[in-house]
Amino acid sequence: MPSQPVVLIPGDGIGPEVTEAVLHVLDAAGADIAWQRHQAGLAALDAGLDVLPAQTLDAIRDVGVALKGPCTTPVGKGFSSINVQLRKTLNLYAAVRPVRCLDGVATRFDDVDLIVVRENTEGLYSGVENEITPGVVTSLKVATEIGCTRIARWAFEYARRRGRRKITVFHKANIMKLTDGLFLRCAESMHDEFADIEFESMIIDAGCMKLVQDPTRFDMLLLENLYGDVVSDLCAGLVGGLGVVPGANLGAEQAVFEAVHGSAPDIAGKGLANPLALLMTAVMMLNHLADRLHDDAHRACGARVRDAYNRALAEGMLTRDLGGSLDTTDFARAVADRVE
Ligand code: NAI
Repeated sequence: MPSQPVVLIPGDGIGPEVTEAVLHVLDAAGADIAWQRHQAGLAALDAGLDVLPAQTLDAIRDVGVALKGPCTTPVGKGFSSINVQLRKTLNLYAAVRPVRCLDGVATRFDDVDLIVVRENTEGLYSGVENEITPGVVTSLKVATEIGCTRIARWAFEYARRRGRRKITVFHKANIMKLTDGLFLRCAESMHDEFADIEFESMIIDAGCMKLVQDPTRFDMLLLENLYGDVVSDLCAGLVGGLGVVPGANLGAEQAVFEAVHGSAPDIAGKGLANPLALLMTAVMMLNHLADRLHDDAHRACGARVRDAYNRALAEGMLTRDLGGSLDTTDFARAVADRVE
């Protein structure tokens, strides 16, 4: 059987460093992948291409799966976020971010095990902004019944498939009665079809307070786009930071796997980036391939990688963000050496 093609987008900032580290571990674990390298973000601009080149999009459409490093979006300049564009263009409407404590990584709470589900295509990230008159600008928050219903269905189906017990929606429907009201109503109606899953809703400010007081009272969080973005980082902070939280952007046809963190320009090129989040993301990707292709070899490879990084962490092999002293490459080597 030929190797499975997967599009690889190294991205910007720490992206290329963590990507190389992940490839090193995946090679050691014998991942049977034919990587197709493509560019996006500042790296694409530097190469004289569009920020999100058509050939990158075509390759993802063709192959169906991509592993992506973070891409920088310049603040306040004329570029709309390449990440937002990518998710909208390919209709990757569900972002899923598992947030779990890891043995060997010290955190305030011992047993956090949360799934954050973020609607990825609507809300304030619709990018519809206007200058009404100098000094007065607006940003349009968009919610559609189709969009709210499909993310609610996705979350409940995921919960049932993965044996999760409860979904909590964070919202601000007391203020944004129409948009957040619709998001909440669609989730409530979906619950009628999934009575085996517990459901609750919370106003997001109170929800965030409860989340930092005791994250173990939550199981799955379902959020619209902006809230999902913010709360994902908050949740990362509960389990050791952005270096340990993986993610996937999923649509009906394609899946783009990327960690929650960004391009971290403050530490880029210094060997300080933790490649674990992207490595965990690669394990999610291998499991996705196994499901899609009914090929347990990918799942077994993912399990070898997971066991290896768990062993490395438990033995105190930690990067600086987690209180250790290993650099990006040392950590990748430590994990690769522990692949069995
Ligand atoms: P960021 O996630 O890049 O960094 C936030 C903080 O976490 C920084 O102090 C950084 O050093 C640290 N950090 C992040 N990942 C780390 C890792 N793997 N190991 C160790 N430390 C890590 O968020 P920020 O600074 O808000 O954004 C920087 C750029 O990244 C922006 O241009 C933003 O638009 C972009 N971005 C891209 C994303 C993507 O491509 N999916 C997601 C989030 C942000």
